[in-house]
Amino acid sequence: MKDSLISKNARIQQFPLTGKYIYFDNSATTLTPRSVVNAQRSYYEEYCVNIERGNYRLAQRADKAYESSRAQVARLLLGCLPQEFLFTRNFTESANLVAYALEHPLADNGRKKRFSSRQPLIAWHRGDSILCTVMEHHSNFLPWMRLAKRLNLEFNVVTPDSQGVLQPDAFIRAVNKKTRFVAFQHVSNAFGVIHPVGDIVRSIKKKNPQALIFIDGAQAAGHMPVDVNALGCDFYAFSGHKGPLGPKGTGGLMVKDALLAKFHPFCIGGGTVLDVTLRDYTLKNDYQRFDGGTPYIPGLIGLGAAAEYLSRRIGLAKIKAHERFLVEKLIKGMRLIDGVQLYGPAESKMRAGIVTFNLKKWLCHDVSMALDEKYHILTRAGHHCCIPAMRFFDILKTYGGNVRVSLHCYNTEREVEVFLEALRELAG
Ligand code: ALA
Repeated sequence: MKDSLISKNARIQQFPLTGKYIYFDNSATTLTPRSVVNAQRSYYEEYCVNIERGNYRLAQRADKAYESSRAQVARLLLGCLPQEFLFTRNFTESANLVAYALEHPLADNGRKKRFSSRQPLIAWHRGDSILCTVMEHHSNFLPWMRLAKRLNLEFNVVTPDSQGVLQPDAFIRAVNKKTRFVAFQHVSNAFGVIHPVGDIVRSIKKKNPQALIFIDGAQAAGHMPVDVNALGCDFYAFSGHKGPLGPKGTGGLMVKDALLAKFHPFCIGGGTVLDVTLRDYTLKNDYQRFDGGTPYIPGLIGLGAAAEYLSRRIGLAKIKAHERFLVEKLIKGMRLIDGVQLYGPAESKMRAGIVTFNLKKWLCHDVSMALDEKYHILTRAGHHCCIPAMRFFDILKTYGGNVRVSLHCYNTEREVEVFLEALRELAG
């Protein structure tokens, strides 16, 4: 494995901030490649017009760029079809969009009987339940908890093993015929685990084939190859500005074709309808009914450029291997430092490019501040929007959470060495 996946020149050219800082906060958001910034600039300077409305040639160019971006992102990042893929603002919006459709029926949709339905995505009955896990970040927890409260459903929570890994057996024990919806993460943002998602999905579907499964891919998409068909889930969601290196304010949601037909958008208005009378309206029958109002056109075109950059210029399998190589080096070095408490699985195969830790007698925020002020190393500290998980592992009171090093393709072996040296100094 090379010291870096991207040559020094290309790194500085594509990600100028890497010349000033050691950026280890990639789980919060990533640096944006210049090619993605350029794709947005080119939209603003060359064809800055609306989509899905005009028929003049410049509008056709914008339509084409927007739709080909949808196709690129769907295929390259998730292995799904464009008609199963919705653009959103971020992971949180994707989850809330699903929660809305789980509660609200598609309105009696004018004359288009095919899309008429008086049921939400799930026809809930008394005693039905939603299953989530204690590992989730709040955006994959609160929408489901609120839904359960509003519909008077049971809200049950699976716990991981002692290393933070969600095990298929735990789901087999928790799922029964009343379990109608299950939401869990692909990769943990607070402990760096890659969960055995395919095995978990198969276990759930075997026990209850009717249960719909939502996967939080916020820390997976863009860091590794993802094939939603192989995983077998019904929904898969992510933020564009994290793993995919896309613009801030972009995200995506895969919804299986059959479910999309019954999926009610929470935002309707311009761009979402085929017809409107004084008494009724007919929603579009495809993914365009989710593009209410003018979307973030440059950002979503930029997300397509990001998918292209990651998968064609660098390679998602190479990114996964590079992050693993750096994580192995980090863990090996950190194990030798007195006072370092590491979290997550011992086996590196189960780890994404995220290492979380604490330093004895230090609050996690103080470690992160010292790393920045003395060494220009940017990490995130705290509960990482995972308060239930932090409580479960009992690290909230003692340390205020944990310190997180999270990586991407532009991080290097040299940066890991500088970090290890810094940590040795801090640990004294
Ligand atoms: N954005 C949150 C993080 O930094 C969830 O992990």
